[in-house]
Amino acid sequence: MTQEEVFKALVAHCKEYGFIFPSSEIYDGLAAVYDYGQLGVELKNNIKNYWWNAMTRLNENIVGIDSCVFIHPKTWVASGHVAAFNDPLIDNKDSKKRYRADVLIEDYLSKIEEKIEKEVEKGRKRFGDGFDEAKFRATNPNVLREKARYDEIHARYVKAEAENDLAGYKQIILDCDISCPVSGTKNWTDVRQFNLMFSTQINNTGNADDKIYLRPETAQGIFVEYLNVQKTGRMKIPFGIAQIGKAFRNEIVARQFIFRMREFEQMEMEFFVKPGTEMEWFAKWKENRMKWHVNIGMGAENYRFHDHEKLAHYANAATDIEFRFPFGFKELEGIHSRTDYDLGNHAKLSGKKIKYFDTETGESYTPYCVETSVGVDRMVLAVLSNSYKVEQLENGESRVVLSIPAPLAPVKAAVLPLVKKDGLPELAQKVVDELRYDFNFQYDEKDSIGKRYRRQDAIGTPFCITVDHDSLVDGTVTVRERDTMAQERVKIEDLRALIDKKVNINNLLRNL
Ligand code: GAP
Repeated sequence: MTQEEVFKALVAHCKEYGFIFPSSEIYDGLAAVYDYGQLGVELKNNIKNYWWNAMTRLNENIVGIDSCVFIHPKTWVASGHVAAFNDPLIDNKDSKKRYRADVLIEDYLSKIEEKIEKEVEKGRKRFGDGFDEAKFRATNPNVLREKARYDEIHARYVKAEAENDLAGYKQIILDCDISCPVSGTKNWTDVRQFNLMFSTQINNTGNADDKIYLRPETAQGIFVEYLNVQKTGRMKIPFGIAQIGKAFRNEIVARQFIFRMREFEQMEMEFFVKPGTEMEWFAKWKENRMKWHVNIGMGAENYRFHDHEKLAHYANAATDIEFRFPFGFKELEGIHSRTDYDLGNHAKLSGKKIKYFDTETGESYTPYCVETSVGVDRMVLAVLSNSYKVEQLENGESRVVLSIPAPLAPVKAAVLPLVKKDGLPELAQKVVDELRYDFNFQYDEKDSIGKRYRRQDAIGTPFCITVDHDSLVDGTVTVRERDTMAQERVKIEDLRALIDKKVNINNLLRNL
């Protein structure tokens, strides 16, 4: 299967097994809006717990809050979102479809990268064991030609982005012969800026002053509560405020499943530091956050940093942690050094003094801020896409397995009586009672044991516990491990400890 086919299969799998549904599908759905089903919400909660505990339990100087989606509209003027939270958009005159100009160009660049990789793969196959990849990349004429094309377009793209040159974007689209995926034509409008914030009225009087925005990032809720938390928590700089919550953006590119949604969830932490120390903290948080990701166990090679060439309006340094999604390396988390931009502007616009007084040095200053911001939904997609596998088995059959890292798996164990008689369901219930308070489990007595194993593999359950006739005699059960399918006999009273060792999120936290 191609990567595209695998991705389509994953999306179908997520729906079939109750992870993720297109929102309000009975009305034909709503573009770029998804609901989490019974298993999706468990996975999401596990990811959120891992993040929340890593932030607030492992760092004594980080506390959490939960601020509102609605914030005073002046917040978004101060933060710069009213003036500058825009995407460059272009319309195709024939299909009437609207696209992000930068995304059209990035997709085009990704295709060139794919061509280069295909060329390298061909070389690998042709030369076998003696293949020298570095030499091949440096000398193969096809690779060199594509690389030169990539570099030329990429340089123009970076320049257009840095200078906010809308005509420059359009010229690249024309020069690269990029056509509309729907109409197939190159009949493009000019590129225009489009603000991404959703707005509504708070009092329904129709008065323009009632306009209020749905927050496009959770961070501002932290900045407007900075003083309250600092004072009531007697926080000393450096300290952080963490928050998990919904954010809303009127995204134009509605595709790639839950990668880019209009309603999504962020896990953000704003770390307040003394001005002049922000680069040191920026480096520390880069390292800390990469460690958090790699610790999940999905392969260090699937992550990389991407330092920003164009900085957001509030940043003096920024990097993304990118993950290898099925459609290539893409942003999973953003880490920004936001200077005193936010607190400084909120102080100006509100007229309130937002300063930190250092009792040791007697200094008073506006703190600088280093932010880490990761999308919950992108984490879910990273985990699911990395875990989804179709495996050929020795007996000629195949199985679909989600090898979700056990601490994040939605269901930790399934309890399966071998048959529905002879007292096995009753003993299985005793096993369930043993596990109920510690783990999310499923009880299943329907169909053959093989079918039940497959059902659990498909939702990523790390352990299947089979209760059979021997269990009645010696009090042991068969424990089957999801990835290796290895089976062992375990005493019922030892089950809890065995499962806990693998699935407890605290074990992940201990490795950080
Ligand atoms: N406060 C900084 C901020 O919001 P961002 O890079 O725009 O920065 C941070 O967003 C993270 O939020 C991204 O790395 C991504 O994981 C997630 N995110 C952003 N837009 C998203 C969208 N439309 N759908 C899903 N996740 C999104």
